[in-house]
Amino acid sequence: MCGIVGYVGGQCALDVVLAGLRRLEYRGYDSAGVAVLADDGGLAAAKKAGKLANLEKELADRPLPSGPTGIGHTRWATHGGPTDANAHPHLDNAGRVAVVHNGIIENFAELRAELAERGHALASETDTEVVSHLLSESFSSCGDLAEAMRQVCRRLEGAFTLVAVHADEPDVVVGARRNSPLVVGVGDGENFLASDVAAFIAHTREAIELGQDQVVELRRDGVVVTDFDGAPADVRPYHVDWDASAAEKGGYDYFMLKEIAEQPKAVADTLLGRIDETGTLSLDEVRIPAAELREVDKVVVVACGTAYHAGLIAKYAIEHWTRIPCETELASEFRYRDPILDQRTLVIAVSQSGETMDTLMALRHAREQGAKVLAICNTNGSTIPRESDAVLYTHAGPEVAVASTKAFLTQLVACYLVALYLGQVRGTKWGDEVRGVVRELSEIAREVEEVLETMEPVRELARSLADKNTVLFLGRHVGYPVALEGALKLKELAYMHAEGFAAGELKHGPIALIEKDVPVVVVVPSPRGRSVLHDKIVSNIQEIRARGARTIVIAERGDAAVRPYADHLIEIPPTPVLLQPLVATVPLQVFACELATARGNEVDQPRNLAKSVTVE
Ligand code: AGP
Repeated sequence: MCGIVGYVGGQCALDVVLAGLRRLEYRGYDSAGVAVLADDGGLAAAKKAGKLANLEKELADRPLPSGPTGIGHTRWATHGGPTDANAHPHLDNAGRVAVVHNGIIENFAELRAELAERGHALASETDTEVVSHLLSESFSSCGDLAEAMRQVCRRLEGAFTLVAVHADEPDVVVGARRNSPLVVGVGDGENFLASDVAAFIAHTREAIELGQDQVVELRRDGVVVTDFDGAPADVRPYHVDWDASAAEKGGYDYFMLKEIAEQPKAVADTLLGRIDETGTLSLDEVRIPAAELREVDKVVVVACGTAYHAGLIAKYAIEHWTRIPCETELASEFRYRDPILDQRTLVIAVSQSGETMDTLMALRHAREQGAKVLAICNTNGSTIPRESDAVLYTHAGPEVAVASTKAFLTQLVACYLVALYLGQVRGTKWGDEVRGVVRELSEIAREVEEVLETMEPVRELARSLADKNTVLFLGRHVGYPVALEGALKLKELAYMHAEGFAAGELKHGPIALIEKDVPVVVVVPSPRGRSVLHDKIVSNIQEIRARGARTIVIAERGDAAVRPYADHLIEIPPTPVLLQPLVATVPLQVFACELATARGNEVDQPRNLAKSVTVE
């Protein structure tokens, strides 16, 4: 979950690296650092705890020499606190090697002990620093940084993406990848390395995804990729279709606001080309033969955080439209409960970043047990889709804000598409309903737009609650995962206690939390579909209001039954029952973002959080 950038070419390496780090700061911002190989020879480095701005201030006070080759890093601490000493890059004792790292080196303790015995003085608490000293030793014996990197990688255990430079090879940057992400940007007379494409798409959109256990040697005029034993490796070049501007804020104060506003387009883009004019789904990238899908007798969705909430909603859709049993599991729990999986199990791994280690390890476990794995992912070329049997990409575009919004809505769309596709491939007893839902799905982008146009009262309400210290969220059926998502947004953005409940659970304990003026958000199902469900939640609203709660009700436009019990009524367009989360979630995103802003919080990079959690 750190940001890494490397550059070699005709531009000032420091400028290119710093600009790239700014694009990657969401990946971690405990500290930052850079190293350059100066025109007059030698290696120079600077690093500071805190955000990138601290490093830039350091560089303004103590500039580094210019040069054509450099590396940089923004950190999310794992081993060793966020201090200057623990910031990357890490250098060897002679100051000739600099290395930056993303991941965890699991055998670093024994390597540290070995290096200390051989007289190396380690200056940090990090696992990474052992690599700079090992590279120094290997380079001394082989005289080639790429070969030194291969030798060192063969000694390391764990997850690591490494990028290094050596003063004796001033026009070379070397990278290595195991588990954590690393992509090459192929320029004209210049080349880039980065944790994700956002760092270099301002310069080039031609990329090469590095595979597992590969080493890349970058020069101005060439890129050489091998495996850890030095054998040439197959690489897959691809074109990045995200514009540089797409990763900019586009006039909004925060990336999160921009990304909330982009949701109609993200939803539409995710549907694009996947439903033909007859309403038939064509998911050609789901490269699992129809015959195998017809054999599937269980589906398990694994994911974390917001993606897990998408998975909870997927469960309702998959079971209703396909009649296949579906479990949704927290990826971090999944493999430790010894799940029952076999070749007739379809595991769906939902992940925006495609690098979440909990989810990656869950899918690896599933594949070891013979299950087929379908990834739903937003990041092309990332590890989770690469290690799955098939992938359905969401097309939300880069989601920079740590709090997931457009990725969530597009995950829902992708989950619906997979459920409908399974129903279509296997035949389903609700054929007409499925065709109706497919038609409705093509309307949903406009309905999300409609909701976005009516959010001013929600912002006012959020500001009025800025001094509260708790908000509760209730929902039933697919409204329950929406309640969980609304609570998570408020926790991660406003740093406020928030909790989501299944409304039917109230009487089993949580109703004790209700007292005068406690704000309670209630997501009300459509009165048209399962009216029993609707009537029960109206009773729940009455129960909490009778005990003094301040009721904030999200309900379908024209739902007269809830109006007398709503202190605040937020109306959403009517949708089919299972699709309601696509419109009901949006007010909760806006609510959390506005309340956090009113509290003066840093919305795009909430404290303690990182966009992609690439450690277990
Ligand atoms: C949600 O707002 C958070 N950013 C977090 O819960 C996130 O959804 C989770 O870490 C999973 O990330 P992924 O989708 O990249 O796997």
